[in-house]
Parts: sequence; C-alpha cells; structure tokens
Amino acid sequence: SISIRDIFKNPEDFLDKEILLNGWIKTSRASKNFGFIELTDGTSFKPIQVVYGKDLENFDLVEKYPISSSLEVSGKVVKSPGKNQSFELQADKIVALCSSDPSYPLQKKRHTLEYLRTIAHLRPRANTFNAVFRVRSLIAYAIHKFFQEKGFIYVHAPIITTSDAEGAGEMFQVTTLDIDSIAKSNPTEVDYSKDFFNKKTHLTVSGQLEAEAFAEAFKNIYTFGPTFRAENSNTQRHAAEFWMIEPEMAFADLNVNMDVSEEMLKYIISYVLENAPQEMEFFNNFIDKGLFERLQNVLKNEFARITYTEAIEILEKADREFNYPVSWGIDLQTEHERYITEEVYKKPVFVTDYPKEIKAFYMYQNEDEKTVAAMDLLVPGVGEIIGGSQREHRLEVLEEKMKNIGMNMDTYNWYLDLRRYGSVVHSGYGLGFERAVMYITGMKNIRDVIPFPRTVGNAEF
Ligand code: 4AD
Ligand code: MG
Repeated sequence: SISIRDIFKNPEDFLDKEILLNGWIKTSRASKNFGFIELTDGTSFKPIQVVYGKDLENFDLVEKYPISSSLEVSGKVVKSPGKNQSFELQADKIVALCSSDPSYPLQKKRHTLEYLRTIAHLRPRANTFNAVFRVRSLIAYAIHKFFQEKGFIYVHAPIITTSDAEGAGEMFQVTTLDIDSIAKSNPTEVDYSKDFFNKKTHLTVSGQLEAEAFAEAFKNIYTFGPTFRAENSNTQRHAAEFWMIEPEMAFADLNVNMDVSEEMLKYIISYVLENAPQEMEFFNNFIDKGLFERLQNVLKNEFARITYTEAIEILEKADREFNYPVSWGIDLQTEHERYITEEVYKKPVFVTDYPKEIKAFYMYQNEDEKTVAAMDLLVPGVGEIIGGSQREHRLEVLEEKMKNIGMNMDTYNWYLDLRRYGSVVHSGYGLGFERAVMYITGMKNIRDVIPFPRTVGNAEF
C-alpha cells in the first residue's frame, strides 16, 4: 500500500491520481463547508493534509473524529493552494478504522518531556519523540554504514558473560534463583546449580574483551549491542541499559584510534544532516537553538587533542573554583569536562594518557609508568561520549598488572592467550550510542532518546 513517504518523495508521480491511504489523525479542524485533517502514517515526519468538503457523505461524523483515530482515506493527490504544503489529499471517502477514545492524552498542546516520560508507550507519536526515534534509527544505520564501508566485520558480543571488562564491578547478575525464596530460607543452603548453568554470570558491561579476540582474526571489527551498568548514577546521561559501539583495530595505536573516532563522528553527523533535514530542523528550532551552528562547527574543525596532564594544568589555571578540587590524579568530573569543552575549546576534545590508577586494567602502560594510553572524547553539552585506549599487548606487563589488582587469572586466561598467540599493537574505543543521539539531536536527557529507558528506579513498560 502507498505511504505518505512515497508521496512526498515523488509527488509528481501521484498528482491527480486516485489513491488509498491509511493513517492517524494528528490534528483536525472543520468549518461549515470544509474539513482539514493532518494525517500521519508514521512513514514521514511531516504529515499530509487531507481536505474534505460538505459533499462527503459522513462529513458530520468525520469532523468529530478525535485525534489519533485511525482512518482509511480514498482520494486524489492535488496541488495545494495552502502555504504550508505543496500537495494535499482531496478526500472523497473517509472511513474510521478506530475512532479514538477522547481520553487520548496527547491533545494538541505542548507537554513537558517529564510528563511524556510517564507515557512511554504513546510518546513516540509526539513530534519530538517521533523525530528522536527516526534520527536514532538513522544514526544506527550511519554507524553500520561507516564501518561496513571500511571493511570492518560486525561482531555480536555475548550479553551474558563471566568477565568484567571494565573491572569496576558494576554488573547485574544473571540467575534463575528466586531471590524471594532465598531471603526466606537459610542463606547457606543456596543452590548455585540454579545459577546460570552452575556459573556465576552477569550482563555484559562492554563487549571489548571479546572484540579484541575478533580483531586478532579479522584486523578491523566492531560490535554494536546493548550493555548494562549497575552503577547507581541518577544523572541525565547515565542509563542502566544502553547501547555501545565498540570498534577494535589490530596494528593500530592510539593516534589511529583518535583518527577513526573523529572521522566516524563527523561521518554520522553529516549523514544525519543530509538524510533527516526536517527532523534536524525541528531540533534546531524547538530543542536546541544552537544545534546547527554547533554541528557545522564540528564538521569544519579538527578536534582538539590534549593529554590528561595538560587538562589538569588548564583546570588549575582556570579563573574559577570547581566544586571538586583539581589535582593530578583525580578523575575528571562533569564540571571539569564542561569547562574544557564548552569554555576553553568550544569543540570536541580528546583527552589522552590518564593516570593508570583511574583507568581499566587492559590499557597500554606508557613509558613514564604513571600513565596509560587512554583516550576519552569530550564534547560540549554531553561530556564524555567515547572512551577508548591502546591495549596492553605485552603478555608479561598485562599478566603482572592483573595479578597485582587481584583478578581471577582462570577467568581471563583466554584473554591472555591473545597475547601469547600473535600479539600485536591494537586499539579500540566505545561510543555511547545514546550519548551520540543526545549530541546530534540536542536532547538533554538520556531518558528522552531511549524508547523505553532503564535508569535508576525505572523499569516500567
Ligand atoms: O568509557 P567506557 O566505560 O569504556 C568501555 O566500556 C570500553 N570497554 C570501551 C572500549 O574501549 N571498547 O564506556 C564507553 C562509553 C562512554 O564514553 C559513554 O559514552 C558510554 O559508553 N557510557 C554510558 N552511556 C550511558 N549510560 C551509562 N551508564 C554509560 N556508561 C558508559
Ligand atoms: Mg569512560
């Protein structure tokens, strides 16, 4: 069947032709002799205008159909005299498939994003969310396109795993044990054979370690899947379930890692600007007035590249106080990241070579023995959008580090094999998919770019 997208794509093909269109009423108004319906079928961000006249046999009924009623409209595509559209549908028959209940909450008025979060099952019909989820889909596609065009192999990393890739212990355990009955029974009698096939497992925090195994077989690979963090961070940019893109490249050092990150981000921004112009204009007009300017700026300029040590110097020289005091060795806080990206550089900034104590075990140890070859990409408005590193590929150095921090060597023996059998310099990074969506749409809260967000205290719907 014909969709609105087809009509807007090639309107001339449909001109003066009889068609049948299904959709939902977005808005509806009628005067004595004419009625106008903005009809959407979800295939186009812009609805089509349906016009009907007094000669419509059920005119009096149609003008009363509530917003969100589903319709079947027969009519002719004609040139529109109106100034908001060049084409419209002149209806000669309108049938309601479901006349919507008038209690429909998304009436034609502005709703707050907070309110819309409470109706996650209906909000994709609201303009803002319709635009967000269209663009989310497009960004996912652009990311695949970017890596596939470069010959990267798409790897599906496991969701259930025994390893803790980030070593931060922020994991959701996977078990068939009934927590309620454990609480009642004697805790010493817990039957661990009911755990995941007698193994202690959890949901993955990152597919990186598995990605590294595949990079040694395919050179360039990427993962793109859901990841889970049991961190109790109730902020605008943390979710318990989020998607991550993790490219991993053999024979590549930290500089290559930054080059690919920058090229990728620019690619997806250009792709979305080109392929979702209406949605992007909507964001620029209604969500974030500086959006176009900021994105154009990103495309035009090279990202800044500074070391952690330089970042600390910049913060120490800052003409202001931070809530969290600055000294070499601290983990950068949101306020520090904001200052560097939004006030000093006013563009994306790579920060490299962090103190080894605040970064994960797998990062390559630099010659200074104090820092590791890490890189975070910080962007104005969102903060950290990418975290990555060159990996420790030297067996002895890695083994010693893992022992020192008390990791279970049996669990990670396979990971050390990668350093035994043809180890090479390799690097990779993780792009937080939702943070990329926030950055490109200007949306400020991660809850508003995820269809059904799972955040602290929220697993409804
Ligand atoms: O910096 P992170 O923890 O790095 C890793 O997981 C590495 N294994 C990646 C790699 O080198 N392959 O996470 C990467 C990115 C962050 O920069 C951030 O954008 C996003 O994932 N992220 C989150 N996004 C939403 N909610 C959370 N709780 C997030 N935690 C990390
Ligand atoms: Mg990080």
